[in-house]
Amino acid sequence: MSGERERWSSRPGFILAAVGSAVGLGNMWRFSYLTAEHGGAAFVALYLVLTLLVGLPLLLAELVLGRTAQSSPIRAFLRSGSKAWRPLGVLYVISGCTILSYYGVIAGWTVRYAGIALLGFDAEIADRFEDMAQGGDAFGFHLVFMALTIWIVAGGVSGGIERAATLLMPILALLICGLALYAATLEGGSAGYDYYLRADFSEVLSRGVLTQAAGQAFFSLSVGMGAMLTFGSYLGRDHHLPKESGLIAAADIGVAFLAGLVVFPLIFALGLSDKVTGSTVGALFITLPQTFAEMGGVVGRVVGFLFFAALVVGALTSAISLLEVVVSSVIDLFDWSRTRAAWVMGCLITLLGVPSAWSLGVLDVVDQVANNLFLLGGGLLLSIFVGWVMRDPEAEARVGAERFSGFGLWRVSLRFLVPVVLVFVLYDAVPKTLRAIAELVSGG
Ligand code: TRP
Repeated sequence: MSGERERWSSRPGFILAAVGSAVGLGNMWRFSYLTAEHGGAAFVALYLVLTLLVGLPLLLAELVLGRTAQSSPIRAFLRSGSKAWRPLGVLYVISGCTILSYYGVIAGWTVRYAGIALLGFDAEIADRFEDMAQGGDAFGFHLVFMALTIWIVAGGVSGGIERAATLLMPILALLICGLALYAATLEGGSAGYDYYLRADFSEVLSRGVLTQAAGQAFFSLSVGMGAMLTFGSYLGRDHHLPKESGLIAAADIGVAFLAGLVVFPLIFALGLSDKVTGSTVGALFITLPQTFAEMGGVVGRVVGFLFFAALVVGALTSAISLLEVVVSSVIDLFDWSRTRAAWVMGCLITLLGVPSAWSLGVLDVVDQVANNLFLLGGGLLLSIFVGWVMRDPEAEARVGAERFSGFGLWRVSLRFLVPVVLVFVLYDAVPKTLRAIAELVSGG
């Protein structure tokens, strides 16, 4: 390794970058379609419980491990454990490549929709979704989005990632709050709040929903593949990690909740609630553009543009964290320059996105593999590593947080609660995902 390790330039800068990683398409696209599919508020409650009990301890674990090791995932497991754990770091890098490859495709759709919104959505927009989402054009927008992501990451930790987050996150917050306020003024939107905030527990008490909620909790918080670990590796020892983890999780949950307050009243106010399909893309890419088309005129254009602009911004600050895992590993392992690592790995990942750009079926299965196998599996192994293998993680976590009293609880939950919940969830998630892969392969 050459030279000094890069550092965040300030505490708020780090927090904004971490919140930027967490807040993204997961909070707006995934959160709203899963909530629509699984009983509104009851699903939200389950997601909340899993975020606090399982996601938050893992988030803290990643930050502690990253700060302790001062290196990217592959080295971190080697330094704080043994050779046997090195493959977990490799898995994290593979997860990063996989998630970013299709995340960039979806982000590409949002870029395109922001552009179309400005020109005004037309009434047939919903019917054209499948054409727009698949094929050469979809790849083109993916390419544009990836180029932007690569350019930011090539700018460095403080000069690229932190600077982008500091600029973009306040904009995102303004957009989301403004849209939620606007949605509150719509007549007829109250049915949307009802739908969103009234619990239907009959949907929630099945194991399948638990898998979805757990996957969502991990995806939304960016845990289970070393993104937060990598961000933690640029931290000094003066950070109160428990407090900062709590802040990051709170911001992530807050934005997801706000996104629901935008999406549901909008859809219901324009009478399109029966069009909310359960598909991966339903609420966001089919129903909402139709909503903006119905609004028509300048209002429809402006609101539609601001909505998709918020998505682009959220997606960008998340995508940079995914790429950073890969780039930071390549820099640590092969001693490449940052610019070279960012462009070479970024281009490879862009190409890896070709199948997802060409077929929604492929994209859906890659999303399942990433969430159900990589993130949940990666989280399980991480809890075992920090809970059982790493030497005295409590002492490491206590640095900068001497007076915090919850470390015992944290350790116990990493050792017992988190692994037990994850094994239970994986018991359902693994066969389901393997079935989805088999279907895709046999269906051609
Ligand atoms: N959390 C982001 C979102 O909600 C996506 C993301 C960024 C992510 N980095 C990650 C997901 C790392 C899993 C792991 O859109």
